[in-house]
Amino acid sequence: MAEALWDDVAAAYERSFATLCAGTTEALLAHLPPGARVLDVGCGSGHVAESLVGAGHVVHAVDPDPEMVALATSRSAADVRRGALPDLPYDDASFDAVVANFVLNHVDDPRAAARGLTAVTRTGGHVVATIWPAQLPPQATLWNTLLDDAGAVRPAMPRLAPELDFERSPEGLGDLLAQADLQVVDVGASEWDWRVRPEDLWAGMTGVGNFGVAWHAQAEDVQERMRASFEDVAAPWRDGDVLVFGVRAAIAHATA
Ligand SMILES: C[S@@+](CC[C@H](N)C(=O)[O-])C[C@H]1O[C@@H](n2cnc3c(N)ncnc32)[C@H](O)[C@@H]1O
Repeated sequence: MAEALWDDVAAAYERSFATLCAGTTEALLAHLPPGARVLDVGCGSGHVAESLVGAGHVVHAVDPDPEMVALATSRSAADVRRGALPDLPYDDASFDAVVANFVLNHVDDPRAAARGLTAVTRTGGHVVATIWPAQLPPQATLWNTLLDDAGAVRPAMPRLAPELDFERSPEGLGDLLAQADLQVVDVGASEWDWRVRPEDLWAGMTGVGNFGVAWHAQAEDVQERMRASFEDVAAPWRDGDVLVFGVRAAIAHATA
């Protein structure tokens, strides 16, 4: 299902979407008390964990993918373990704060996962989570144009059953945390410019998540047409050596 899309993609993720997801770091840090014992859940290659350590927190991090665990271990001084929501390998109520940066939008059972965040947070502790809202981000617009121009097939993407899914918006994320017995403090949006080298974006889009699924479903001639038109299709976002995408995440802060 959706979680399986994160197997064996760590190197491509590190080059591409890791720097995209790191854009919420300041917004996440703003909700944490100083010197907190923090758990970064679904830490990926460890950018947020590294910043949490730099901000003076005592940081633990966890991810189901062994390659992500290895990258996060080498990038940060966090104590990184392998494990997955909803049953995290930590004692109940053992953290002052728990962050989940773009994780609840990738799990197979978001409500169970949110309860997993609650379980490891001490009473009065903080949970801060982000997701991508439903609106198509600009890098996906670029990708869809590439697919359409090349006459690509559109494979079925893994989707949650309606009874498991939740509204992909700041309010929907807040509701998800409230359903996990958390008190929602605030919900909102975090916006930033993602600056990425075209070759790194290409590595991400041809390997990671739903982008990678679409890429691998194409015949070689379609892939060749996509490769050939990438530079032209990406031109509207080019600024010198990089592409710049204005992006927006939903963020929610709650207490246990
Ligand atoms: C979009 S990445 C975000 C990574 C990281 N938080 C960041 O900001 O770069 C999603 C991450 O969630 C992890 N993941 C997938 N299923 C998970 C689960 N059930 N519990 C915890 N993490 C999970 C993936 O391995 C991947 O590292």
